[in-house]
Amino acid sequence: ENWKARNVVWHRATVTRARREALNGHRAMLLWFTGLSGAGKSTLAHALEEALHQEGCRTFVLDGDNVRHGLCADLGFSPEDRHENIRRIGEMAKLFIEAGVITLTAFISPFRRDRARVRELVGEDFIEIYVRCPLEVCERRDVKGLYRRARAGEIPEFTGISSPYEEPEDPEIVVDTAERTVEECVEELLAYLRGRGLIA
Ligand code: PPS
Ligand code: ADP
Repeated sequence: ENWKARNVVWHRATVTRARREALNGHRAMLLWFTGLSGAGKSTLAHALEEALHQEGCRTFVLDGDNVRHGLCADLGFSPEDRHENIRRIGEMAKLFIEAGVITLTAFISPFRRDRARVRELVGEDFIEIYVRCPLEVCERRDVKGLYRRARAGEIPEFTGISSPYEEPEDPEIVVDTAERTVEECVEELLAYLRGRGLIA
């Protein structure tokens, strides 16, 4: 039992998720991008958001820029801190879904167990997108110069170098960013969402 929450009284909302979704004209969902640093999570999350927004959807991207500098500013990159990072993001995403928003997240989320916990928390609205890209390609891109620094031993526990990345075993979608352009990947994602009837 979560004893700290024992005396917290819940209030029933009359404005429900279903009513918010009806007002928005689309369903809420969580599009969970996972993959190595530099694989293309942020690029694709924002490109897909742009496409969805243009189609009149309510969207929001959660990524390092608005999470690791704020809500999770106290966390680093040990396995424990990554667990806690993903747990908080999952809880926050759940609130965004309740708000009727199509929520896109761009975090490495390297541990299967952590992603599975978010899936359990969110249920059928959790859509796992594996942004697949070989480590060599990510390293060659080295968007932020972090791989070079990690190889030089300046960044401990760097994903793919000195900290594990556990590939998704059964993701809803896989996009291969070393073989497809950003536009092609976005089309694949939109096609999946349309195919499932999640967007018009
Ligand atoms: S995690 O594992 O999901 O909690 O990580 P995340 O919150 O997505 O943060 C990853 C970004 O932080 C930068 N960074 C590191 N990444 C991996 N390992 C280490 N040690 C590390 N230190 C800093 C890095 O820029 C990651 O951003 P992306 O966008 O993935 O490149
Ligand atoms: P991440 O958020 O996973 O760390 P970024 O989105 O910051 O990755 O960086 C990915 C880099 O790869 C960008 O420079 C982007 O232009 C490039 N890139 C090349 N092809 C693709 C693709 N198909 N999808 C996404 N990014 C791609």
